[in-house]
Amino acid sequence: MDGHSHPTTGRPLCSDASLSPCLRRYSEVRAATLHHAAPLSAEDMVVQSMTDASPAKWHLAHTSWFFETFLLSPRSGYAPFDPHYGYLFNSYYEAKGARQPRAQRGILTRPALSDILAYRQYVDHHIRDLITAGLDAESEALLALGLAHEEQHQELLLMDILHLFSLSPLAPAYDPAFAADAPVGETRFLACSGGLVEIGATGGGFAFDNERPRHKVWLEPYQIADRLVRNGDWMAFMHDGGYARPELWLSDGWAHVQVEGWRAPLYWRLDGDRWQEFSLRGLHPVDPDAPVTHISFYEADAFARWAGARLPTEAEWELAARQNGLQQVDDVAWQWTNSAYLGYPGFRPGAGAVGEYNGKFMSGQMTLRGGSAFTPAGHARLTYRNFFAPEKRWVRASLRLARDHA
Ligand code: AVJ
Ligand code: FE
Repeated sequence: MDGHSHPTTGRPLCSDASLSPCLRRYSEVRAATLHHAAPLSAEDMVVQSMTDASPAKWHLAHTSWFFETFLLSPRSGYAPFDPHYGYLFNSYYEAKGARQPRAQRGILTRPALSDILAYRQYVDHHIRDLITAGLDAESEALLALGLAHEEQHQELLLMDILHLFSLSPLAPAYDPAFAADAPVGETRFLACSGGLVEIGATGGGFAFDNERPRHKVWLEPYQIADRLVRNGDWMAFMHDGGYARPELWLSDGWAHVQVEGWRAPLYWRLDGDRWQEFSLRGLHPVDPDAPVTHISFYEADAFARWAGARLPTEAEWELAARQNGLQQVDDVAWQWTNSAYLGYPGFRPGAGAVGEYNGKFMSGQMTLRGGSAFTPAGHARLTYRNFFAPEKRWVRASLRLARDHA
């Protein structure tokens, strides 16, 4: 879903004729972020559990910094909420100057949470004025990017809180009512004839720059699973020595198995002879029929090899998703693909700081497709490209098998 055009008229949300849908979408996204933080105490929001993760408080501030930096500060007459915030809440934009080192986000006991909530209100007030005054096309595109950005941070906030809480001896539930993963049935392989196909975002509607340009790809005939791999399947892999057989692993993955001591998905724990899983609803038995989650690319790749299959490429995934749906499980977990996260042919990042958003990360990471139970509704698309380094496990990621056409 585009999320930035009117659901029925298809008109841009922020043109003169439709101010209120634009204001409504802005308010809804901003409110959803606060809603994500609502179950957390002020203490929960300060701690950074690892370098990859950020404190919830930092997410609340950084998403506001994004609107302030790209939409408000360029306008004459705008007074920043606090001149220190540019340093504190810039994530990685070299063109926006020096910043708090990523690994040190957790020492930011100051500014207080109350200051950051006031910052959000200050930015909201100014953005609403801007929308009401009317946005040119460039500002409207930045607003759409800022909202998609904030939705990405809503998912990151959940990933980061799950990781933080997983380290607590109290095993706290973020939300005891957080939905359990629905069981998935037996896998069937769908046959795709391939050929010359097109992937990538078309002209209409919001998409990140990394989803463009749409372009042609040649695909040999292939088969792709209609379901994700389940926890029960993963247990069979474990019982068959999956984590102890180097021949199943890429060399870099095997090195991680050795050094990190991987024996099971990230949030599994052995309780006697029973596997328990820690999730946002707390600690509970592993459901053998639910999709496996919180595995690295290396684990997904090793499992696929063990199963006599492989991971799909992102083009195979996108074509199958368009032709066959695949929706049933799309919103349960992201799916690692066998595609390196690279620019599509003809990709050019935008000029200036905003061009740093996606393009500069196009090395050493793998593409994931789909969406997850942590992804805000309507955020992802068939052409959406998520990306993480192949050893990351705190991503809510699973896998879908593929194989060459027999
Ligand atoms: C697409 C999830 C890898 O986590 O850095 C957040 C999302 N981009 N702020 C990331 C993102 C800018 C991005 N991922
Ligand atoms: Fe960000």
